[in-house]
Amino acid sequence: MNGAYALSAAPMMERSNRHFRYLLRLISRRIRLYSEMVVDRTLIHGDPARHLDFHPAEHPLALQIGSAEPALAARAAAIARPWGYDELNLNVGCPSERVQQGGFGVALMKRPELVADIWRAVHAETGLSLTIKHRTGVDEFGGYRFLARFVETVASAGARVFIVHARKAWTAGLDPKANRSVPPLEYEKVYRLKRDFPELTVVLNGGVGSLEEVAEHLRHVDGVMVGRAMWDYPWRWAEADRLLWGDRRSPNRAEVLAEYEKYLLAGIEQGTPLRVLLRPLFNLFKGESGGRLWRRRLDELARGASWPAGGLAALAPLEAVR
Ligand SMILES: Cc1cc2nc3c(=O)[nH]c(=O)nc-3n(C[C@H](O)[C@H](O)[C@H](O)COP(=O)(O)O)c2cc1C
Repeated sequence: MNGAYALSAAPMMERSNRHFRYLLRLISRRIRLYSEMVVDRTLIHGDPARHLDFHPAEHPLALQIGSAEPALAARAAAIARPWGYDELNLNVGCPSERVQQGGFGVALMKRPELVADIWRAVHAETGLSLTIKHRTGVDEFGGYRFLARFVETVASAGARVFIVHARKAWTAGLDPKANRSVPPLEYEKVYRLKRDFPELTVVLNGGVGSLEEVAEHLRHVDGVMVGRAMWDYPWRWAEADRLLWGDRRSPNRAEVLAEYEKYLLAGIEQGTPLRVLLRPLFNLFKGESGGRLWRRRLDELARGASWPAGGLAALAPLEAVR
């Protein structure tokens, strides 16, 4: 296990924005957080602060970029550098059509030399060591040798951290959602990668739903990344710091809620829409008694219901926050 990577929250478009990440940071001081993917040209031509600003409490925090051109990746990395992210990550796993049109995402698995060039360009420009998030294979390339050659080629440029979504992707015929469930999980291939490249940090991703499963995978790899189960069940990870890192204290949900409420009220002052700030909270009691009612009440708040006198805690299922 590599303490810095033991558990991380996956990059998820439309989900892992700074507000959800801040909530996760209240739930765990240790989980490594990843941003949504930002495309190189968006940083170069757009308003970088809009995509890059984050709360100082979010560290350790990684920025994920999408790029298929070494020069653009290097420029985007140089723009992002002053923000002080702890890690820069390259998306080599996304199969969406839009991403493929840009030539980046999972299509890059077929071009390991280009990924190696991107790594070198970013490193030469910024001194940063790009990490790589990829799949076990793509289209007809599903064998272990293809995967090992990809990793070997990119590692030969200098890359040291590989986050492997343990299923291959189909670039045609399956949409991104189906590409996260239809191709079977291949954990054994990721374990083997760690055995064959013990000097690399190998992080396993895909289908992990509990801390018990994380602990099991950590017997074979350096870290585990969780996506959907972080969003769907954020409170499930509240024991992570204690169980994985040996911290003494676990967070208390009433305190987390109170802290997030302070953050939310400050966010409103700065002009962030209430709905955007409330959204990360929707699943905080999911699967528990009162969880649906909580969701409905938040939805009403987002639609303009008046703020409860006792704050958000007054809307929460009683037994969960007392
Ligand atoms: C809504 C959503 C958006 C995603 N966006 C990204 C993204 O921007 N970059 C990326 O590398 N992966 C993205 N993914 C894939 C996840 O990072 C992760 O690899 C995948 O969901 C498998 O992990 P899980 O089974 O724990 O969810 C996204 C997944 C979801 C569900």
